[in-house]
Amino acid sequence: MKTKIGVIGQGYVGLPLALAAASAGFAVFGVDSDLEKVLQINSGNSPIEDISNEEISLLIKTDSYRCLTHVDSTFDAEVILICVPTPLNSGHQPDLSYLRSAVETAGKVLKQGGLVVIESTIQPGTTRDVIVPILEKASGLSRDQFLVAYSPERIDPANKIWQVSNTPKLVAGLTDEAAQKAKDFYSKFINQIDICNSLEVAETAKLLENSFRLVNISFINEFAIFCQKIGININDVIKAAATKPYGFMPFYPSVGVGGHCIPVDPLYLASAAKEAGAPTRFIDLADQINLEMPSYFVARADEILGGLKGKKILVIGVAYKPNVADIRETPVAALITGLKKSGASVAWHDDLVKTWNNQSSAPVTDQYDLAIIATPHDYIQLSNLGNTPILNTRGSK
Ligand SMILES: NC(=O)c1ccc[n+]([C@@H]2O[C@H](COP(=O)([O-])OP(=O)(O)OC[C@H]3O[C@@H](n4cnc5c(N)ncnc54)[C@H](O)[C@@H]3O)[C@@H](O)[C@H]2O)c1
Repeated sequence: MKTKIGVIGQGYVGLPLALAAASAGFAVFGVDSDLEKVLQINSGNSPIEDISNEEISLLIKTDSYRCLTHVDSTFDAEVILICVPTPLNSGHQPDLSYLRSAVETAGKVLKQGGLVVIESTIQPGTTRDVIVPILEKASGLSRDQFLVAYSPERIDPANKIWQVSNTPKLVAGLTDEAAQKAKDFYSKFINQIDICNSLEVAETAKLLENSFRLVNISFINEFAIFCQKIGININDVIKAAATKPYGFMPFYPSVGVGGHCIPVDPLYLASAAKEAGAPTRFIDLADQINLEMPSYFVARADEILGGLKGKKILVIGVAYKPNVADIRETPVAALITGLKKSGASVAWHDDLVKTWNNQSSAPVTDQYDLAIIATPHDYIQLSNLGNTPILNTRGSK
């Protein structure tokens, strides 16, 4: 009989993980509070770009995977993974409400000896101080009667090279036994598992990874402004510097950062650091530089057109990164708002996103005064722009 696994949260992280475990021979139950999403998945329609309809249908047909809206006390999964959002609240502080609720769900069905693994991004100390007490209360068990681990997700949507199976995974346990059990489980479908010395090390490593990206992306964005001012192509500079075989890692310019991780996770770190009385000046400055990038491109557009009032502008690509339909925290929203505030008439094209803010993707034509390339999806053809001037936020052409 197959070992049963529960994966709470079937989004960009939980669904690929659930399907990877199902393909490895586990009987996986995805759990998601979004009824529409559950119906969509169970009818074999993938809600995310990286997963095909065929993959879902095949795993459903072979009884390896099914999606549920909730679980009851008969749910007897040996391992429960938690992959729900950990956003910021309106005060820009960590919002753990989804996580608390999902952990409570897990606690209610947790059996003696069962393993719960948190995959969501959290601050150091959250698994030990927040998650474990909720599990104890909801299950009626004490912490030595079940196993708890933390294993931060490293999924990079639309990355064709680094996927679930070949991206090394960190795990840490409340106990050595929990860490080992989590490692044994993930080893069935992930090539390399590294055990960290403590839950807090694994939690903080995830915040370091994403803060590193935020700081370097903001640095290259500021650097791109300098290159533009002196009339050289930033991408030529990066290509030249990247020939150095050690001590350099290329990052590329853009309108800023977006998505559920890079703009959010460093603020989890900043909030934890503030509590600890440690400074996070790099993060604060990086955040500020990225937030200023849309205004910089509004000013560039203004300069190119000699004023924006009444000008027709097409913004190409509105998702937060190329080749995904995800518009969460997209910096393109601020770009469009800034252009409109300056009096431009703005349309946008993105056939992956299709509809956004009650507007539909407009076709690429030569009927505009300016086209701004914000997010260059691979499918986008620029030939229909004819002689329309182009402002490329990804560096000069
Ligand atoms: N998206 C990424 O690229 C990525 C990468 C690494 C880490 N992460 C982290 O992983 C976590 C999940 O992110 P995501 O991008 O998969 O989010 P998502 O929004 O794509 O998916 C989360 C899903 O959880 C469901 N959900 C919310 N509360 C629930 C509950 N109480 N019970 C059941 N289902 C519930 C939502 O309906 C949604 O479908 C976050 O902490 C994020 O920071 C995301």
